[in-house]
Amino acid sequence: MQLINGNVIAQKVTKELKSEINQLTDSFPTVTFVRVGQDPASVSYVNKKVSVAREIGIQSQLIELPESISKDELCTQIDALNADSNVHGILVQAPLPAHISETEIFNRVAPDKDVDGFSSINIGKLCQEDDTGFVSCTPAGIIELLKRSEVETAGQHVVVVGRSLIVGKPSALLLLKKSIDGNATVTVCHSRTKDLGAITRQADILIAAIGKPYCITADKVKPGAVVIDVGINRIPDPSRKSGYRLVGDVDFDEVAPLCDKITPVPGGVGPMTVAMLMRNTLKAFYKNR
Ligand code: GUN
Repeated sequence: MQLINGNVIAQKVTKELKSEINQLTDSFPTVTFVRVGQDPASVSYVNKKVSVAREIGIQSQLIELPESISKDELCTQIDALNADSNVHGILVQAPLPAHISETEIFNRVAPDKDVDGFSSINIGKLCQEDDTGFVSCTPAGIIELLKRSEVETAGQHVVVVGRSLIVGKPSALLLLKKSIDGNATVTVCHSRTKDLGAITRQADILIAAIGKPYCITADKVKPGAVVIDVGINRIPDPSRKSGYRLVGDVDFDEVAPLCDKITPVPGGVGPMTVAMLMRNTLKAFYKNR
């Protein structure tokens, strides 16, 4: 079994981006993060994005808005960022409060600044295999992890567990692409799938993006499979100062010995999401400078 080290691979990617940014002379990439409310996981993710951006020479700005903000007020803020030529990329952190439609907000972000790739235009471009759009960061990070770990996808059966807009659906689309890092046979499972294990046991590459701790147990994995764990679940742990620890969707201790390769949580897909956001921000800079 080989551990796929997302920290090491993400650092390689950010180092490459940093040296590209270092060669810029007259202007530099900028990204604005919008966070609504104080969800602790969102606070921590956005802080991480701010700090990695700073490390590699991307200027960022964080707009913190109250949970009570109306949809119209949030739209007004996004419109101002869309119109601001000094802002190259915009990211509205999910989840949003229940009274605001995420789809409506994701579609409000100008497609050329949509570094999350969640707008209908960018999802559509992904579907059309038009590389001028933005691809969502976590799915792009999964592809990059596979590529840099020398995992062949062509002709492989990839089973994606989870159908979210943020991970499941775009991951399936990327793996289906007629390209060197695609060409997979893809099955997408979800909460209503009958006999999940019968399908996941057929996976050469299993992508778990369910949001349920320890959901993928050893009996759901084919020996020799590559397992990518996208879950980041906080579970109570009184022995930690924070009071919690992070676990994936995969029962790592049980599954790891069976695998050819597996990503840990933390330190697997998470850091790649941030690295891909930086890559998308640089792309947004080239589009909008
Ligand atoms: N919430 C969880 N993952 C993401 C992400 O990649 N982007 C945004 N905007 N919100 C998220």
